[in-house]
Amino acid sequence: MDIVQNSIVAGASQIGVEVDEDSAEDKLTITVTDNGCGMDKDTLARVCDPFTTGRTTRRVGLGIPLFKLAAEQTGGEFRIESEPGKGTRVCAVFGYSHIDRQPLGDMVSTMHQLITAHEMVDILYTHRVDGREFCLDTRQIKEILGGVSLAEHEVMVWLLEYLKENEASLYTNN
Ligand SMILES: Nc1ncnc2c1ncn2[C@@H]1O[C@H](COP(=O)(O)OP(=O)(O)OP(=O)(O)O)[C@@H](O)[C@H]1O
Ligand SMILES: [Mg+2]
Repeated sequence: MDIVQNSIVAGASQIGVEVDEDSAEDKLTITVTDNGCGMDKDTLARVCDPFTTGRTTRRVGLGIPLFKLAAEQTGGEFRIESEPGKGTRVCAVFGYSHIDRQPLGDMVSTMHQLITAHEMVDILYTHRVDGREFCLDTRQIKEILGGVSLAEHEVMVWLLEYLKENEASLYTNN
């Protein structure tokens, strides 16, 4: 949620959220891609390591450093690529069964909140669990809705059910 929030603040009109749970490889990979304003090299360096890059007059947040730390604590890895004017890609790999891995959390609520609160942003969500896959492209949903708002009560209720059903089907054996 924090990482996607950064993309929204960066003015992205398209955000990709990819969650890949792979128990065979014992990896959980989370990738967020956006077409927002991007960052220059200095900002990028400061963002990844706010404690060692020295005095900055501007406050630097902890969203990215904490995400990076959370991944690295599980024997995983963290990568961030960004280009000013083009966009940013943040990728964290977690040790899936590592004792220090934080739970993925409630993807249904997270995605529901993101999608309904940021209607102007197109979100491409992919969640994979050991070969099963659930993809949601808000552009397709908006097309079907034909101008009806995603924040409309009935649409929100439908979307919640849709997310619940599809997320649940990723974890059931049939
Ligand atoms: N997707 C992105 N596109 C462009 N700039 C970004 C992106 N993600 C992060 N940044 C830059 O990196 C900075 C640090 O991000 P980070 O999430 O670590 O902290 P923050 O957003 O400033 O504060 P917070 O602690 O509230 O998250 C941001 O302020 C922003 O300048
Ligand atoms: Mg942030």
